[in-house]
Amino acid sequence: MFEKVQIAPPDPILGLTELFKADPNPDKINLSVGVYQDSTGKTPVLGTVKKAEKLILEQESSKGYLPMTGDPAYCAQVQELLFGEGHEIITTKRAATAQCPGGTGALRVAGDYLHTVHPEAKLWLSNPTWANHNTIFAAAGLTCEKYDYRDPATNGLDFEAMCASIKKIPKGDVILLHGCCHNPTGIDPTVEQWALIGDLLSEQGVLPLVDFAYQGLADGVEEDRAGLLELTKKVKQMLVCSSFSKNFGLYRERTGALTVVADSNEQAATVMSQVKLRIRYNYSNPPSHGGQIVAIVLGDKGLRTQWNEEVADIRNRINEMRHLFVKTLKEKGVEQDFSSIIDQRGMFSFSGLTKDQVDQLREKYSIYIVGSGRINVAGMTPDNMDRLCDAIKSVL
Ligand code: LMR
Repeated sequence: MFEKVQIAPPDPILGLTELFKADPNPDKINLSVGVYQDSTGKTPVLGTVKKAEKLILEQESSKGYLPMTGDPAYCAQVQELLFGEGHEIITTKRAATAQCPGGTGALRVAGDYLHTVHPEAKLWLSNPTWANHNTIFAAAGLTCEKYDYRDPATNGLDFEAMCASIKKIPKGDVILLHGCCHNPTGIDPTVEQWALIGDLLSEQGVLPLVDFAYQGLADGVEEDRAGLLELTKKVKQMLVCSSFSKNFGLYRERTGALTVVADSNEQAATVMSQVKLRIRYNYSNPPSHGGQIVAIVLGDKGLRTQWNEEVADIRNRINEMRHLFVKTLKEKGVEQDFSSIIDQRGMFSFSGLTKDQVDQLREKYSIYIVGSGRINVAGMTPDNMDRLCDAIKSVL
């Protein structure tokens, strides 16, 4: 059978990391996959994660299966981080959470749930969006449509066009919104705009599916939930897919969650019973290690304070790199205006580099950027900035 198999195309993001790893150039720079690197170019294990792992090693007494929806202590911490301690959604138990293998796992489970339980619903994705959104939801069998988002003229949000698109979404469809640090553009709505989006979704009867993978990387752990909280004031039902890959650096531990927010506790439990079916036939129950780490750190006042500081260090370094990048390009005499990158948030920005320029950067300079021109600002360091900006100047 295998003689007939054709080689599959490389993944547009992870495929580049494979190429990067194979590149022998000692000065290579990886600005492709969304993984944080510190100022020395390393992806560190957080101090709080190490402390929690030590405790797990000493205290873990069983490797038995977790429930299909994961560890209840972890799920409670997920809800508290999303909505804030004492939020009405939590006190009235209108939310139900399932621990999932990373944000990607949560999205796939959400996709399977939507396709099978709401087969008429189409899913609306921002234009552009994370390349993997299209493939995850297509694999789940959902029909995906696009709504307007980025204004190419300003490299900012085209809010008018976004609202016009939302007004055309039929009742009963689903819209995927990025909770903060929009991937791939780094462009987020303001709090006021989130409120208006919530009004529109409520008028239209459209269900929000919030992909919330970067909490803490924009303006702060609490600040970054502002958009989600605006939505919760306007709509009672939603799905939230969250992840601890970036804000805990738990990339390889696949630590995520799918949270259902419903009208009531009973309704949330009913929806979760359907979600559980999809979990069972996908991977049965989630991996435990990352969830234990998160539950320990967020459940301990001292560790939680330390974690907040670690997230602030990550966020501040990325924002410093945004400024340094724009400043260095200017100093080198690059005329193209990159200043919008300073206002964008999270790991990514749309550079405006063309596919051809991206290819040249890789082939001539061993600088790896996603074909769409998305750059991972968290891969820039003070040491690689000169080389990066010289290379960009030469291909412009
Ligand atoms: C990214 O967009 O680079 C990250 O979310 C990692 C991934 O899996 O693509």
